[in-house]
Amino acid sequence: MPIKRSYANLPTKIEKLDRLSKSLRGPEIYIKRDDQTGIELSGNKVRKLEYLMEEALGQGADALITCGAVQSNHCRATAALGAKLGIPVYLVLKENRKPEMMGNYLLDHLFGATIHRISESDYQHRREEILENLGNELKNKGKNPYIIPEGASNGLGCLGYSDVIQEIQKQEKSLGFSFDAVVVPTGSGSTLGGLILGKAMYDYPGEIIGFNIAADAETFQHRISLLLQEAITYLDSNSPDSDHPLFSPGNIRIIDGYVGEGYGKSRAVEWDFLEHIAASEGILLDPVYTGKALYGLTEEIKKGSFHGSQRILFIHTGGVFGLIPPSNLPR
Ligand SMILES: Cc1ncc(COP(=O)(O)O)c(C=O)c1O
Repeated sequence: MPIKRSYANLPTKIEKLDRLSKSLRGPEIYIKRDDQTGIELSGNKVRKLEYLMEEALGQGADALITCGAVQSNHCRATAALGAKLGIPVYLVLKENRKPEMMGNYLLDHLFGATIHRISESDYQHRREEILENLGNELKNKGKNPYIIPEGASNGLGCLGYSDVIQEIQKQEKSLGFSFDAVVVPTGSGSTLGGLILGKAMYDYPGEIIGFNIAADAETFQHRISLLLQEAITYLDSNSPDSDHPLFSPGNIRIIDGYVGEGYGKSRAVEWDFLEHIAASEGILLDPVYTGKALYGLTEEIKKGSFHGSQRILFIHTGGVFGLIPPSNLPR
């Protein structure tokens, strides 16, 4: 089992969403504040980076390279962590046009990251090659770069979220009850994948459910199943093996139907929900991930999909800076 660095403020708190739960007259909804893991509000990324940085620093890395959308939370989190550790960060961002200086893109600059912008088509088809080339350029200058994949979503990234299951189990003991389901947004897959891994490793009885905020459920089921196969290669022989039933795509539960207008685009109904949660619970969701996923969860509760569940735990994965670019606003 690989060890990790310790950057996150843990355990993150669990709070009840009182007014939302009452208004839905369904299961009680709780929220786990993984938006408050630290590293300048880096949310779910911190737990993943704890594992990747152990490998990076173990290899003597003195530069980090990663990639994502222009408003990527993961890129900003890597830039923030790099700045904290004094390691230069190189970001390959998917954006043809010169972006407006706002939100995460602005923060990438504040944290001193070096930014390379590439076209959407290059990002889709030549991303790995472009990251490798950048790595080779840095090597030629005497650096030792470490490449982090999009969203820190690889086997090591999953390990960061498998730990959360143990953390929840301890919290359940002191709360005196357990959750019937743990719910998260899924974007690049390792948060949901990690929770599923944790369920398998620690025999967690609660159901693990994702809401996809891009693409479709099937795409993620396959992607996450592959991530899980990679993740178990880091575990010892007593750990779940590759044919564990929870790892097969058909058993990975993802509720589709809440992508709305597409990745990073908000509809009025989603924005209204976000405003409602901010005003009634004092909690800021982000429009790209948590806003859509919690909206999806409440709609599914209204439809009766969670009939029989007593308590649901929603993991707030962060992303608050996504509120800043007004391009997300539907009106
Ligand atoms: C705020 C936020 N929540 C959720 C996710 C989804 O996590 P994952 O990429 O591990 O699926 C991301 C990143 O993609 C994110 O930035």
